Amino acid sequence: MTEPLPSTISTLFSTADRDRLLQLRRDLHQHPELSWQERATQARLRTALHSLGIADVEDVAETGLVARIPGKARGGPSVALRGDIDALPIVEATGLPFASLNAGVMHACGHDMHATWTVGAGMLLARSPAVGEVRIVLQPAEELGEGAPKVLASGALDGVEAIFGAHVDWRYRVGEVVADAGPLAASTDTFDVTMHGRGGHGARPQDAVDPIVTLAAFVLEAQTIVSRRLDPALPGVVSFGVLDAGSAANVIPETSRCTGTIRATTPETRYLLVSEVERIAHAIAEAHRCTATVVMREGTPPLMNAARASEWAKSSARALLGEASLRSLAVANMGGEDFAFYTERIPGCFMRIGTWRDGRSGAGVHTPRFDPDEDSLFVAAALLAECARTASAALHS
Ligand code: NI
Repeated sequence: MTEPLPSTISTLFSTADRDRLLQLRRDLHQHPELSWQERATQARLRTALHSLGIADVEDVAETGLVARIPGKARGGPSVALRGDIDALPIVEATGLPFASLNAGVMHACGHDMHATWTVGAGMLLARSPAVGEVRIVLQPAEELGEGAPKVLASGALDGVEAIFGAHVDWRYRVGEVVADAGPLAASTDTFDVTMHGRGGHGARPQDAVDPIVTLAAFVLEAQTIVSRRLDPALPGVVSFGVLDAGSAANVIPETSRCTGTIRATTPETRYLLVSEVERIAHAIAEAHRCTATVVMREGTPPLMNAARASEWAKSSARALLGEASLRSLAVANMGGEDFAFYTERIPGCFMRIGTWRDGRSGAGVHTPRFDPDEDSLFVAAALLAECARTASAALHS
């Protein structure tokens, strides 16, 4: 019941090419490594690039790689393709013959697919180059949101005028693509709030300043940020993940603490939600005679696809897969993606690549049974290569 890939894609890959890419993906899948530990992954990917005749490969961001594929024209524009390479601390339960051999670590977010299709795009570009140079970035530590800033800081993307990347998505069929302009993933800031009161005997609250009641009031009041302060037409999240206070039933503790996550899809709503959490923490503390310490940890920014880059991606998808392949996000994606650090600095487009087919399980990413259809490797490799060629040609003219 599996529909074949369109000939615009299948003819790009010989049987040997397919075997090579499938073997690379399964090899990566079998040997997943956590963020900043991707040493064996880095070595495997370096070997794969070399074996495809891509000679100019350098280490970047400790455990990542950047490969340069020369363009047809000297001095042509530089474009980048990025695939992330790290895995998650999850015990795999797919039962696949190439399931993880590293106990407790699994490629459950499809970064084995991303790394492989980015190498595949490099293979296609080495055969049929873009006008200008294409840099293939195999990036570590996406799951921590730390890899992309490190790649940027290394200078490996200096001079790059457009960047493309993609993520597996089991909610879309193989051959379907999301490449819309605008928000594609959310910001991911974390707050840590401590309420400082004065401890005492639970029987004598009048002698204490109760940080537990204060924290409870803060948790409830923070619910009004999204419901009362945010434009209802815009997505946003303030979620609490940890509440922590006290040690005994009859003791009012000195302090209480909570942490949580703030998600937004535009810089403006991100600022609103972050500043309101901070303001309300202090205001509630004061109302209850406590003081608050608020620590904000900046995560990834919102991922905004640039209009021009999105058009290049869409026209590439139309050429390879037809108009019907283009889908839109049904609802805003409140997950984070560190590709957003690139799109803050470089016009780019991050795509969702369908990996579902009839009869497949619908297990999503970050679950022990996540098992994407491998034909999406060829779709994404061809699409990313075509994005690079389209962008390069447009930037050159
Ligand atoms: Ni991911």
